[in-house]
Amino acid sequence: MKHHHSETEKNLEAAFAGESMANRKYLYFAKIARELGNEEIATLFENTAHQETAHAFAHLELLYPKTGLSVEKLLEIAIEGELYETNHMYPEFEATARREGKLDAISEFQEQAQESAEHAVLFLQAAKRFKALTGVEAHHAARYQKALANMQNVQSA
Ligand SMILES: [Fe+2]
Ligand SMILES: [Fe+2]
Repeated sequence: MKHHHSETEKNLEAAFAGESMANRKYLYFAKIARELGNEEIATLFENTAHQETAHAFAHLELLYPKTGLSVEKLLEIAIEGELYETNHMYPEFEATARREGKLDAISEFQEQAQESAEHAVLFLQAAKRFKALTGVEAHHAARYQKALANMQNVQSA
């Protein structure tokens, strides 16, 4: 994730994470409740999930104020996030799962690392297509290319 400086920014990140998780969790619970034949509870979870999305967006608006955003910046933030997942987060999680012998988690982390890599590539290609990476961000672009090249080497090894 992005690095923020104040405690409040960290709290906003945590609140955003919590509300986002509540959204996905309730959609998952709605699916399970529906499979268990309880349509009323499924609908309750879905309606609440939509409100959690609104709560998450309210935190995002403070974390990423619209005035500071451009298409370049959106793609840059997205690329950073996906590269962090694929190059750092999932490899570390996979190593821990391996130590603990959690076979299901190992393969899921590997799959998701791969999908994060694919998302990074899509965003990077989009940034290039729209010439969104300006001169100022050229050093980022070079670093992304290097990260992606490393990643592709690892995957084909
Ligand atoms: Fe909420
Ligand atoms: Fe992703």
